Amino acid sequence: MRVLPDPDRAPPDRFGRRLHDLRISVTDRCNFRCVYCMPVEVFGRDAAFVPRAELLTYEEMTRLARLFVSLGVEKLRITGGEPLVRRDLHDFVAMLAAIPGVTDLALTTNGSALARLARPLADAGLRRVTVSLDSLDQATFSRMNGIDFPVSRVLEGIDAARDAGLAPVKVNVVVRRGLNDADIVPLARWGRAEGLTVRFIEYMDVGHTNGWKMDDVVGATEILETIGREWPLEPLDRVGPGEVATRWRYADGLGEVGIIASVTRPFCGECTRARISAVGELYTCLFAANGTDLRPLVRGGATDATIRDGIVRAWAGRDDRYSERRSQETEGLPRVEMFAIGG
Ligand code: GTP
Ligand code: 5AD
Ligand code: SF4
Ligand code: SF4
Repeated sequence: MRVLPDPDRAPPDRFGRRLHDLRISVTDRCNFRCVYCMPVEVFGRDAAFVPRAELLTYEEMTRLARLFVSLGVEKLRITGGEPLVRRDLHDFVAMLAAIPGVTDLALTTNGSALARLARPLADAGLRRVTVSLDSLDQATFSRMNGIDFPVSRVLEGIDAARDAGLAPVKVNVVVRRGLNDADIVPLARWGRAEGLTVRFIEYMDVGHTNGWKMDDVVGATEILETIGREWPLEPLDRVGPGEVATRWRYADGLGEVGIIASVTRPFCGECTRARISAVGELYTCLFAANGTDLRPLVRGGATDATIRDGIVRAWAGRDDRYSERRSQETEGLPRVEMFAIGG
């Protein structure tokens, strides 16, 4: 059977990659000051964030999401900053959940407010959450989150998410050498005991403020060897198209771990993700310097067809493959900060 091109889908980008996932940042603010994202020395009391009037409203974001879905997006993920610091997020979840054609609706959070909000989010139609947690040790976690936030509150949030049916809960661990590399095994042990998928993330050179150095990266090979020495691992197939994590099962059958190795094993070739910042810029790469500003269209009375056209043009012209190019060649290039587009 001949497969005809679908006129409703965005055409592939310049490397033949299809648009499949959309990450929507609802705020650039966060109550944490993680060392690898918003270091407290740089983002102190007087740090400037986007004025509230400039944020897209939930209605405006939903309209954009609907247009992306009409162009082939099936997976939606809400991000920040910390998405749960924006008021009434469950209202936004309900709006997204009502879009026909969405097969996955997820949220990435630091977990600090989940104990309170997991239930209303689930009731509004959220399917699952990914919680960032870099250490189970309070002193280390405090050093990493920058505000001395209690581990116990994040653990309560994870429990609340599971109780609310936001499963499977995934846990993201950014590994930074000298800070939490000693926590790899304890976190893996905890994941096995709790039945949670823990995903270890190589520390990335996003933005310009975290002072990234290659020496601070603990690579996938080292992470896998560290875990494998305790509990042998076997590779698993990826689940969905464009999934960023490689998956490994414990040979003894006690669950799995994931590795997100954007630095040492880049995955740009299969990257199907678009991102919208909280002010309505469309980014076609996590490491892009600029986005395509959709807000003037959204606020200027443009028709759906005009906005769709803007999205299609940005996607069709996309030639990003930053992680594969990462080298001398990319050093010093301007890049958006992580908290502006939510990872
Ligand atoms: P799943 O759908 O559950 O697999 O979610 P996800 O892994 O795509 O999303 P999450 O927000 O949990 O991101 C995990 C880590 O992968 C974060 O550190 C992200 O910054 C990073 N990440 C996500 N997408 C990309 C990408 O396209 N490129 C790079 N380099 N890193 C990415
Ligand atoms: N490198 C890797 N991951 C990062 N994250 C934030 N900053 C970085 C970085 N520099 C992670 C967060 C969260 C996800 C959205 O991105 O911990 O889990
Ligand atoms: Fe906040 Fe997430 Fe950035 Fe940490 S990584 S400062 S929790 S947005
Ligand atoms: Fe996609 Fe850019 Fe990440 Fe490569 S670096 S996987 S192109 S977002």
